[in-house]
Amino acid sequence: MNKILLINGSNRDAYSYKILKEIQKEINDAELVKLNDYNIEFCKGCLYCDKNAKCIIDDDLNKVINQISNNDIIVFAIPNYFGGMSGFFKNFIDRLHYMYKRSIFKDKKVVFIYTGALEDDSITMEEMTKSTHNIEKYLELNVINRYSFSSRKELDIDKVNSIIDNLK
Ligand SMILES: Cc1cc2nc3c(=O)[nH]c(=O)nc-3n(C[C@H](O)[C@H](O)[C@H](O)COP(=O)(O)O)c2cc1C
Repeated sequence: MNKILLINGSNRDAYSYKILKEIQKEINDAELVKLNDYNIEFCKGCLYCDKNAKCIIDDDLNKVINQISNNDIIVFAIPNYFGGMSGFFKNFIDRLHYMYKRSIFKDKKVVFIYTGALEDDSITMEEMTKSTHNIEKYLELNVINRYSFSSRKELDIDKVNSIIDNLK
């Protein structure tokens, strides 16, 4: 049985969080991590990680890394800010720079849930797929599914259920 980690990439407990909670209701064993519960400092840009295979900053990032290591499928819920991933989430990704060419994601499966306020969530899908493209490339993410939601509408439960079915 695959171990599933749900990561809320929003800096608040709102729409993206709600989707993940719905998933967790049906997949009880899934662990839910809220990045806003962790102290994850900004990347300093020092590139210490190029030579040392770890980040020079010793903060809560390490806890999240451990949780990722202990699971098989990582589900990221990420809000769309100005046509791309939010700065809050991007900083988390920037801090993973030391995984470039030595990614812990190599043996994992990844699912992206993109949320945006536009009614037409196909635009969110298009913008966010572009936004995460290079992360997938450099961190060698094996993205098995991606979904987009409009936070302007009632939660699309059918879509949530299809995520759950595909995760099971
Ligand atoms: C600064 C900012 C910029 C945003 N830009 C966009 C955008 O370009 N396109 C979009 O569809 N929604 C945009 N939104 C709306 C959020 O993506 C939307 O509310 C999302 O569901 C937030 O996720 P959360 O509720 O989990 O925090 C923006 C919100 C903020 C705060």
